[in-house]
Amino acid sequence: EKGGYKHFMHKEIWEQPRAIADTLRGRMLLTEGDVHFDTWNLSQEQVKSFTKVTILACGTSWHSGVAGKHMIESLARLPVEVELASEFRYRDPIVEKSHLVIAISQSGETADTLGAFKEAKRLGAHTLAVCNVIGSAMTRESDLHILTNAGPEIGVASTKAFTTQLVTLYLLAVKLGRMRGTLSVEGAQEHLTHLTQVPKMIEEVLKCEPQVKRVAREFMNAQDFLFLGRGPMHPVALEGALKLKEISYIHAEGYAGGEMKHGPIALIDEKMPVVVIAPKQPHVAYEKIIGNIEEVRARGGKVIAILDEDDTQADTLADHVIRIPAACALLAPVVATIPLQLLAYHVAEMRGNDVDQPRNLAKSVTVE
Ligand code: F6R
Repeated sequence: EKGGYKHFMHKEIWEQPRAIADTLRGRMLLTEGDVHFDTWNLSQEQVKSFTKVTILACGTSWHSGVAGKHMIESLARLPVEVELASEFRYRDPIVEKSHLVIAISQSGETADTLGAFKEAKRLGAHTLAVCNVIGSAMTRESDLHILTNAGPEIGVASTKAFTTQLVTLYLLAVKLGRMRGTLSVEGAQEHLTHLTQVPKMIEEVLKCEPQVKRVAREFMNAQDFLFLGRGPMHPVALEGALKLKEISYIHAEGYAGGEMKHGPIALIDEKMPVVVIAPKQPHVAYEKIIGNIEEVRARGGKVIAILDEDDTQADTLADHVIRIPAACALLAPVVATIPLQLLAYHVAEMRGNDVDQPRNLAKSVTVE
């Protein structure tokens, strides 16, 4: 059932072009410049009346929420707050009837997310679940649910669930943008065209595996890793660090590039690998992230840069370059995540860890 792969996680990483194609199937109305969700039940009036979006999630799903914030704010011009579900429920959150509350969850059963979601519903918000499991508690509790269609995810470390969440949130951002009138038909068509290219791009980026394996071999015994990204690449940095922690048991931190000088720069020495996610995008503050690379190098740190395939500016600065096909800013997180998943996988595998069943972790966290 692992289809020739040693671990489910590896199989699921490689399944992503297919999983993302399944997420997109039947949902993109290219000629109309619109998105179709067969469960959709919100009227234009309701969508126009929303004043705020609150996203609730945990772990990897929370990271997709942070990327989703960029998408929804940019395309639908609605303010988005991304909350850790475990924090939201124990304070006195501000929830109003005009708020759209989105829970993101692979399993649809995570206790913290479900608890926070129910609380938001009780306080009168409209609730939308972005879930991978049909019939799960969250899809039952919500006013509206949208499935990510990744197929069953067995590896404890989430991979295809994350990238299909990103794509689903992008579709949702286009849908909200169209209904709110912040996105024109032509604008939506452009975004949808970008989306159609994602499965191919993932196939392309998966070819970086031999290069990633070389990096994994060089740094498999590192004590710590730092991951840096700006804008929509910030959640990618967080996700890269989480993946590595979970399965390789190497300490890793994800940081927004601009925060490096406010503390973590003190950690950098010649033993510290720093993964810098730097596709050439305006929202990613490319020049600034290149500045980060220079700061790391000046302190002897080792730089592993994730760069666009045609980037000839930064490649001379980094110790290792992993190239990814150039995507638009809001979709680059999907593409840039793939090498980080592979890095975590190969480091863990080389260290002889139980990749699919990492210590102390469970696939679905149904306790608070
Ligand atoms: C990380 C991971 C966890 C989950 C988190 C939320 O690889 O799998 O961080 O993302 O426990 O789970 P769901 O998405 O099922 O609510």
